[in-house]
Amino acid sequence: MSSRPTGEETADTALREVAVGDADIYERMFCDPAMMSHLGGPLPRSGISAKLRHDIDEATSGRAWIYMIQPSPGDPTVVGGNVVLWAHESHGMSISEIGWMVLPEFQGRGIGKAAVRLLLRRARDAGRWGVVHAYPGVANTASNAICRSLGFTLIGRHDAVFAGRSLPTNHWHINPINLTWR
Ligand SMILES: CC(C)(COP(=O)(O)OP(=O)(O)OC[C@H]1O[C@@H](n2cnc3c(N)ncnc32)[C@H](O)[C@@H]1OP(=O)(O)O)[C@@H](O)C(=O)NCCC(=O)NCCS
Repeated sequence: MSSRPTGEETADTALREVAVGDADIYERMFCDPAMMSHLGGPLPRSGISAKLRHDIDEATSGRAWIYMIQPSPGDPTVVGGNVVLWAHESHGMSISEIGWMVLPEFQGRGIGKAAVRLLLRRARDAGRWGVVHAYPGVANTASNAICRSLGFTLIGRHDAVFAGRSLPTNHWHINPINLTWR
């Protein structure tokens, strides 16, 4: 893995907002057993249109940042996954949470790390979201590596809920305002 480009080296990775045409990509991300193995298993295909509509509403209203990753700037039709930043209530407090997915054919190329870094930089530059939390599954080596290498702090174990399912996760956080990346 050492010969693979790191996130910093994949400066070409770009983000665009989620759109109606992303239904197929959504199915590949959320209905695939391997993609969802750390997230409690695949979601039913029957719910994907509604999830996409909901995500587009959240993104266009500005309530959430829901971006698709473009790994090839020369071809904006190619999508490698997504990176998402949203807020939710937990114990009466608003929590900002970031999550990400990279499709199998793009994994291991530094794209996930580059996309998370891009979104955190946007959060810092926008002065929005405050402390950002991430909850990768405890066995999700690559996602925990993204947190570690981008400078998140590990708080400890946390039973997170995804799509109504409770999952054992590591709880990381980062304050984008402290990032010194350009
Ligand atoms: C987890 C996931 C997003 C990683 O994306 P990626 O683009 O493949 O990751 P990157 O190539 O940017 O690598 C990020 C880090 O993970 C490490 N890594 C990547 N693949 C790895 C693997 N299979 N095993 C161990 N470490 C791995 C890299 O070395 C890198 O660490 P470094 O910065 O210390 O060098 C992607 O595998 C994925 O979407 N998996 C399925 C869905 C999922 O788990 N989503 C996340 C829920 S929190």
